[in-house]
Amino acid sequence: MDYFAYKDNKLFCEEVDLKSICDKVGTPAYVYSKKTLERHANAYLKSFSSANNLICFSVKSLSNLSVLNVLKKIGCGFDIVSGGELHRVLTIKADPNKIIFSGVGKSEEEIEYGIRNRILSFNIESGSELKRIESVANKLNINASISIRFNPEVDSGGHDYITTGRKGDKFGISSLKEVMQIAEYANKSKSINLVGLACHIGSQILNLESYKTAAEKTVELADKINALGVELKFLDMGGGLGVPYNGETPPNPADLVRAIEDVMGNRRENIVLEPGRTISANAGTLLTSVEYIKDNFLIVDSAMNDLLRPSLYGAEHDVWNINNSQKTSTNNWNIVGPICESSDFIRKNITLSAKEGDVLAVKTAGAYGFVMSSNYNSRRRCAEVLVDGSEFEVVKRRESYADLLNLEEVPND
Ligand code: LLP
Repeated sequence: MDYFAYKDNKLFCEEVDLKSICDKVGTPAYVYSKKTLERHANAYLKSFSSANNLICFSVKSLSNLSVLNVLKKIGCGFDIVSGGELHRVLTIKADPNKIIFSGVGKSEEEIEYGIRNRILSFNIESGSELKRIESVANKLNINASISIRFNPEVDSGGHDYITTGRKGDKFGISSLKEVMQIAEYANKSKSINLVGLACHIGSQILNLESYKTAAEKTVELADKINALGVELKFLDMGGGLGVPYNGETPPNPADLVRAIEDVMGNRRENIVLEPGRTISANAGTLLTSVEYIKDNFLIVDSAMNDLLRPSLYGAEHDVWNINNSQKTSTNNWNIVGPICESSDFIRKNITLSAKEGDVLAVKTAGAYGFVMSSNYNSRRRCAEVLVDGSEFEVVKRRESYADLLNLEEVPND
């Protein structure tokens, strides 16, 4: 459920007519609904039957500071994957004790940044990473807390590029023998605290079965690790629940929490989840204007540099006309951008009423939308706007031509 809806044939975000945002900010622009972000995060936060569990919003899905601040205020922690994401969450003064650092390739600089800020956990993915964290912790003379991310070998379905928990995927540690060796090593290390066991099986997952299997494997492994004399503090089941883009019917966050609590609810360890898309996707839309119509092409002012998902994954986002709720039209449109590539499309084969000058809303674009944008074709990255009730604010301004060249130098001849 989100707060984008038509009133008298005009598309609103909460109580703001999207046309008024276009008039003030121009297009393309991402618009986020604060109420939707809060609603979705609360769907997780309020579903647990006990306290002491932790929801770490996955910053990679939508990392605008104002969005992170909204989620921090209602109690979310953060799942990060880079020094840049750590910098973002520290900038909004997130509680370090609610920050989890994921990812297979953490650099020494990133590890040092995390240890100095005493984050809750580095979710480690190899023995070499553990040794690196240990040596940085020794150098700084600060203990580092880690969790072991194992690979549960569960195929969660969905697009090959975003499935992470199968045998042969680069994520997590597949060999249980190796997990146990790492756990023993960490348990003996003076500068490492082994606090958790983690897995993450993929993204845009539409069934609960894979989660149940992964949860069962997690508790089995946690028992083995605890038997070494470790007291694991939490079990982290990652993120990955899907959203409806185009008629899918995924389970909701409360169903997911229930399924995981069924397996883990009566254990001593806390449960951690790292949802991204289910909180941010439906909370955002990309506004784009129709520049030209040619044959069955709607040529719009946004492109694959603004929203990469259709080109990269063949993702199908629904598209609405902000001034016309009618979906009837004889035209079956291909909505394309100005970039010089045939892979530059926003949506293929969609029926909607549209004419030149109209503004379209590309739905469910909050997650992996702006964060995956680029300056390809020297296009300026677009604006981001946050709506709160009847007010809206530009929370990232559109880049200028000067911004585009800011970091470049031409050497003297
Ligand atoms: N935790 C970890 C360790 C992850 O790798 C991810 C996502 C998440 C949590 C959050 O997953 P979510 O709840 O958002 O599904 N760019 C792709 C999605 C890549 C997901 C990467 N990992 C897309 O646009 O579909």
